[in-house]
Amino acid sequence: MILMVIIFLVLLFWENELDEEAMAATLEQLHVDYPQSDIPIRYCNHMIIQRIIKEPNNTCKKEHFFIHERPRNINSVCNSPRRVTCQNHAPSLCFLSEIKFKMTVCKLIEGTRYPACNYRVFATEGSIVATCDDMGPAKIQRYTD
Ligand SMILES: *[C@@H]1O[C@H](CO)[C@@H](O)[C@H](O)[C@H]1NC(C)=O
Repeated sequence: MILMVIIFLVLLFWENELDEEAMAATLEQLHVDYPQSDIPIRYCNHMIIQRIIKEPNNTCKKEHFFIHERPRNINSVCNSPRRVTCQNHAPSLCFLSEIKFKMTVCKLIEGTRYPACNYRVFATEGSIVATCDDMGPAKIQRYTD
């Protein structure tokens, strides 16, 4: 009986660990490409397919960006003293990074149904706005120039 309880607890703990890793992987998978993938032409079109970036209803996302920086440095946004209001009626303040990151912005130029989406590539440097929890960045909301 005690053994069963122990096994149960171990499984519970293990599952939580896996969840946390999955979360971190998701944010990175969405927004981080470091070092930048060597895709000489149509970088955005390739990355949007490779990372499966789309709206929940399977339409093309209007805009998306990839940050070319180490995840560790991106995570430092959560230590930033600079705060701004979040979009999308989020109740708390968001963190604005003090550092500007190299990034690629992908803007939809044609297409509606994923994966038939055609993007234009804009290389830029910008700060990011993120929501944070105990684990670090939870969601990267947007970038600012
Ligand atoms: C799909 O979702 C996007 C973003 O939420 C929305 O702008 C768009 O109107 C939706 N399209 C359809 C066909 O429902």
